[in-house]
Parts: sequence; C-alpha cells; structure tokens
Amino acid sequence: MKIILVFSSLCLFLGLHSQRVSSQGHASTPPRGWNSYDSFCWTISEEEYLESVDVIAKQLRPYGYEYAVVDYLWYRKKVPGAYVDSLGFDVIDKWGRPIPDPGRWPSSRGGNGFTEVASKVHQLGLKFGIHLMRGISTQAVNANTPILDVTKGTAYKEAGRIWTAKDIAIQARRCAWMQNGFMSVNTTLGAGKAFLKSLYLQYDEWGVDFVKNDCVFGEDFDVGEITVVSEVLKQLNHPVVYSLSPGTQASPALAKGITGIVNMYRITGDDWDTWDDVGAHFDVTRDFAAANLIGADGLLGKSWPDLDMLPLGWLTDPGSNDGPHRQSKLTLDEQRTQMTLWSIAKSPLMYGGDVRKLDDATISLLTNPTLLEINSFSSNNKEFPLISGSSSKGDIKNADLGNTWKSRRQLKSLQTSDSQVLHLTSCADEKAIGWSTKALDQDLEHICWKEHSRKKYQTPFCLNKRESLLAMKEDIMYKQQYQGKVNLLASDREDMCLHGSPKRKLTSNELKTSFFSPCEWDANQMWELNPNGTLANSYSGLCATVNSVKGKANPVGVRSWIATGRQGEIYVAFFNLNSAKTTITANKSNLAKALPGSRVSAGSCRAKEVWSGQDLGIIDKAISFGVESHGTALIVLSCS
Ligand SMILES: *[C@@H]1O[C@H](CO)[C@@H](O)[C@H](O)[C@H]1NC(C)=O
Ligand SMILES: *[C@@H]1O[C@H](CO)[C@@H](O)[C@H](O)[C@H]1NC(C)=O
Ligand SMILES: *[C@@H]1O[C@H](CO)[C@@H](O)[C@H](O)[C@H]1NC(C)=O
Repeated sequence: MKIILVFSSLCLFLGLHSQRVSSQGHASTPPRGWNSYDSFCWTISEEEYLESVDVIAKQLRPYGYEYAVVDYLWYRKKVPGAYVDSLGFDVIDKWGRPIPDPGRWPSSRGGNGFTEVASKVHQLGLKFGIHLMRGISTQAVNANTPILDVTKGTAYKEAGRIWTAKDIAIQARRCAWMQNGFMSVNTTLGAGKAFLKSLYLQYDEWGVDFVKNDCVFGEDFDVGEITVVSEVLKQLNHPVVYSLSPGTQASPALAKGITGIVNMYRITGDDWDTWDDVGAHFDVTRDFAAANLIGADGLLGKSWPDLDMLPLGWLTDPGSNDGPHRQSKLTLDEQRTQMTLWSIAKSPLMYGGDVRKLDDATISLLTNPTLLEINSFSSNNKEFPLISGSSSKGDIKNADLGNTWKSRRQLKSLQTSDSQVLHLTSCADEKAIGWSTKALDQDLEHICWKEHSRKKYQTPFCLNKRESLLAMKEDIMYKQQYQGKVNLLASDREDMCLHGSPKRKLTSNELKTSFFSPCEWDANQMWELNPNGTLANSYSGLCATVNSVKGKANPVGVRSWIATGRQGEIYVAFFNLNSAKTTITANKSNLAKALPGSRVSAGSCRAKEVWSGQDLGIIDKAISFGVESHGTALIVLSCS
C-alpha cells in the first residue's frame, strides 16, 4: 500500500516537471546558482537554507542564479563529536541510505526526506540541489543494511540470496579525504547498481533537480559509479543536472572519459578565498579550453568544466563546524579577476557566500551584465598568450616569471619537487609500486619514490624514515601494535609527518603539502613498506603513490583570455598576476589571427573597458591597459 502511494505521487511529480529541458537541451548554458559549502561548511539547517533561498529568489534569480544546492553531510547530526570526518553520527534509513538529519531538517520527519524543502524551492521559481558522497557510508556497511530493490520495494535478491551493504562495499576504496565516512560500491555487481539506483530514485522522488556527486572525480576517480548514476539519471522523466567533484589532478584526458555522461565537473581542488587558489586556475582552465571541453556534449545536453564556487562575501572556513563568520579575504581586484576568469571560461557560476548578508559590492560582481552575457553566450573562449606586459619594474615575459615563482615555491615546499603530488590508492594498484629504502648515513634512512619519467631535472621524492619505536615514548602495548611501521618525515621539516588522510578536500593550492601534519601517535601517520615496493598506511590500508603533474598553481605573470559575443563583439580579458601594476598589451593583428573570421580582422574597432567604464576609443594597432596588481581589465571591442 505504502509503495503504491509513493509511486503514484512520484509519477504525478515527474509529470509536472517533464517540460524542463529547453529546446537546446539540458544545461545548454553553464548552470548558475548558490551552494551552501563556502558559508556553512556542512552545518546548514532548514531554517538557514530557506532564509537563503528567499534571498536567492529575489536578488539573484533574475540574473539566472537558479540552483540552490545543499552541500555535504545534510544527514549528519549536529551534536558534540560530529565533524566532517566523524563516524557514527549519520542518519540512515533501513536500506542504508542517508536521510536528512531531522534535528537540522525538521520537515524531513516521518520519511519525507527533502520533499517539502524542494517544493518550497520550486514555488520560488528555483531548482533544488543536493550533494552526495561516493558510494556507501561506513555506517551502512557497519550496520550491514540490506539493499533495496526499487522495482519490487523489497530487499534485493539475486542468486537465491539477499544482498547487504558488506557485499557491495569496497573497503579498500575509501574516499581519500573522508576516510571514515564513505567508500566505493562495486558497480559490477547487480546489488551495487541496485543500491545506487535506490539512492538516486529517492532523490528524484524528493524533487531534486541537481546532484553534486563528490569523491568520484579527479584523483578520486570512480568511473563505475559515475556511469551507473548517469544511467539512472538519464532514465528519469525529469532532467537532473549531474555535477562531479572534486577536480584535484583532473586532466582533459581524464575528463574525456565522462564529459558525455555528466553536465559539469570540477577541474581543480577546492577553491577558497586566497590569491594562490585563484591563480591556480589559469593553467588548468586554459588546458580544458584548448581540449574543446567547454560546452561539449553532456548528459541529455551539454557539459562544463567547473572552476568551483565563488568564495565572496560572508564565509566560513574549510572543514569547519561553524557557520558563516568572516569576510572573504580576496581584495576587490582579486574578486574581479576571479569573476572575469570564471565567466570567460564559461564555468558554472555558483555563489558560495552567505546570501543573507549579500553586500552591494558582491551583488554587483555577481550580476555584472557583461560578465553574465559572456558566461552564457560567448564562443571561441580560450587563453590568448600573445600579450606583453611592462611595469615600473621592467618588461615581463609571462613564461619566465612563472618559473621564478616555481623555484621560490620549491624552496619552501615540504616536498622536494614542485611537480610531484602524492596521493593514496589501492595497494593492489600497479601505480603504488615504486618505493624503496635508501640509507643516507648510519642514523638516517630515506624512503624514496623512484621516478619513472625520464625528465632530467626531476629530484627524486624522498621522506625521512623514523622508527616509531625509537621515537615514541608511549606504552609498550601500543608500540607493539605498530611494530615494523614507521613515521615518515618531510625531508625539510623534522616535525611534519606524512598523514594518510587529509581529513577534508584539498584546496587548489594545497596539493603538495596537505598530506603532512604535525607528528602524532596516530595510525594515520604509520606506514609500512611492503616487499613489493608499496607503502601502506596503517589506518586506511591504502598505499601512497606519487604522480608528476605539470603547471600547477602559477600565479605570476600576465595572462589574457578572448572570446566572441553573440553580436560579433570581441571580448579581451587581461589579468595581472604580478605584485606590481602592469600595462598589458595585445596586438590587433594577433587577435585577428586567434579569432579568424571575426570582425576584428575586417575593420575599425572601438574599445571599452568594463570595470572602469572607460572608452578607449578606436583601436589602431594594439590595445594597452594598465592593470592593477592581481586585477583584471575586460575590454569589449565593437568592430565594423
Ligand atoms: C567486484 O565484484 C566482482 C564480481 O564479484 C569481483 O570479481 C571484483 O573483484 C569486485 N571488485 C572489487 C574491487 O572488489
Ligand atoms: C605587435 O606587432 C608588431 C608589428 O606589427 C610587432 O613588432 C610587435 O612585436 C607585436 N607585439 C606583440 C606583443 O606581439
Ligand atoms: C603488494 O603487496 C601487498 C602486501 O602483500 C599487497 O596487498 C598488494 O596487493 C601488492 N600490490 C601489488 C600491486 O602487487
């Protein structure tokens, strides 16, 4: 009886929303909206969320901000002891599925899930989104809950038996940044697929229009889960935007495997309000544009490389248990740079600050009509490297400055090489093989990663080994437990140990250092070198591997992006990543070559700068503009 009711209301609901796909397809322009993470971390309540959607509907909806997304851990009880990687505080149903914490989301009581919240959001003309972690929760696995067969409304049976959480969970594939919380499910099993289907059909029943699936992309890549979820979403009557996160170590090659089955995917680690995080987006964004991935075919429509939320206005801190409590640390110039890059790279624009405290400066950034026009409707978007810069400190060639910055960074980096990034993978993964010990002198032994690449100047990545037994003064019992295991110290710091779990998602700028933390007696900091050359972490059982990456954060130099507009106008954005005001120059003839067939080759062009409102007059040979440190100039060329 209950089941029949649920399904008939589901059909009614789906019927109501079946006309949402526009004629150009799903996500035909980069999705735009708000996400609760930068302002609330995981702690947002129903009351705070509904207050926020009211403001979004009034102030931002007219500018296309239509998705209102509840970020992670909406099912976690907000009680003492609970935090982003705590275990045992989640509310799950009898099928092992997370359901909203009734303490924070009172309308979910009685099995309603997010139905009421979603309906209020829809009444305001907005769309409702939620965040979902990879696979299955450790809590469901520990409780060994049965899997729901949605087609029958009973426990999933196959080969004459009932399947449970332990049958489908892959314990060795925990989410690297939330090791206690979630792990992959085996999607080659019928029961694994049935579990994911039971999750996503329930979300659809609640009225969800947007899902942010986390810990499945970048270095957390789980193509099995992405494929199954996409299949489930594709079969719904009501289109749901499918978004992937995070993008740590994402590359165009990795993205090409999934662009066709999703609508947006992150291409960097988490973006917070630091200049280095903003700067970390230039190279990777250029590479995704060059690979023609902006607006590629996606799930039931298009897909978009996602540069992450905009941490402007009133914020919280990453991994925090507190709500919004501080102002963004970005200067106005840095905020304009971020908005301009995000817009001209056609990233989804998801505001992250507390909308209840929206100030005029932030509103005018978020609603700048030229930026929004560029974000939705421009084409041929790409980096334009043929620019030059000159400042009072002399002429600048952008590439050289990048290298200077790198070597400076190398010195203070905790790792030996700027282009190597450490991460965790299954110990059965061939890529985890490559560690060996090397004695430096009588007292000091290294554990080093042998670099497979043939790059000449790459220093090997080494860690200093310290026998836990010798170094620690804990009691004997404890010590025996860690017999044969070692602490691994950063080679240039005696007090920082390699840690198996970063406890939260990495920021764009943090890739290299976040696996080190102050040394403590913690299984997360115990490592064992296996005879086959893998290095296993005692807590997670995962193994460490080192990847070479090129072109990470590089926030020095001058950069430029170009695009063409719907009316044939040409957009030229200049970015000054230096610490001194710099005059940036682009040649008209070079622009014409970069945008063949555009009006810039034909005739006379009049230029206007958007932020200053300055009319630059008729451009004869070149455009030049003095750009403040960390700032941007956005020039619109109208040529006839
Ligand atoms: C997933 O299940 C299949 C079928 O039973 C099995 O062969 C495979 O080893 C499992 N994969 C993992 C990673 O456990
Ligand atoms: C601009 O073009 C002139 C020739 O027309 C050339 O001498 C100059 O080097 C060019 N500048 C840039 C930045 O390409
Ligand atoms: C290496 O050895 C460990 C421990 O014996 C094992 O669990 C792992 O699967 C092995 N990895 C590979 C890639 O052979």
